[in-house]
Order: sequence, then C-alpha cells, then structure tokens
Amino acid sequence: MAIDNKKPACTRDELQQARFLIRHVDYKKQPVSVIIFAFEELVYAYINHCMHMHRPLNCEQDAIFDETGKFLRCSMHGFIFDPKTGECQSPVCFGQRLQALRLEEVDGTIYFAEKHLTLSD
Ligand code: FES
Repeated sequence: MAIDNKKPACTRDELQQARFLIRHVDYKKQPVSVIIFAFEELVYAYINHCMHMHRPLNCEQDAIFDETGKFLRCSMHGFIFDPKTGECQSPVCFGQRLQALRLEEVDGTIYFAEKHLTLSD
C-alpha cells in the first residue's frame, strides 16, 4: 500500500529486540506517548494512557504486559486490557478502550497511518 506522508514508527527488527517500544508523537495537536508491540505476529499501537487514573501503562514498571503475556497491564493498579482491541477487562473500566492508532507495514518498516499524527521525536 502506498503511503503518501510517511511517518515511520519503528522497524520489525526493533520490535523483535524489545517487548515494546515507546514513541512520542503529536496526536490531534496533543503530545502523547505511544506503545507499540507485536502480539501473535501482528503489530499494534495505542496511546499510552490508562483511562483509570490517567497514567502511562508502564508508569511503575518497565513493562506493559501481565505475567501471562496475554494481556496488556497497567502497572499502576494492575488493570488489564485485550492487546488486540485495547478493551479493558477489569471491572472498574470494563469495556473502555485504549486509543488505538492505525499502522501500516511496508518492507519491514512500521508506519503510523493516522492523518492527525505528526512525529515529535
Ligand atoms: S491508572 Fe491504570 S490501572 Fe489505575
């Protein structure tokens, strides 16, 4: 797929060497951090913002997954999220979702495919 305005996020090689990556971007004119990770071979990106008390998922630990590796986990209070949808699975915020960002992969490079996103790094 052709990408008119390339906004590189990372490469597959970078993702294979780290469990997750953090990128700082402007999204809808707001500076945000983004978590990027591979899960079951697909790559996902979410704004790194837990809706519970507005903290980054990795605020207390350098990790975004729970011990099973099957769920994203906010290290502040331990709420878990479906990595494929960003949907919270914990009772207080059940059903609310992390803000997903669209990605496209071309020849081993992952690009942000969001119109209202600009790179800030
Ligand atoms: S701030 Fe994320 S679980 Fe409370």
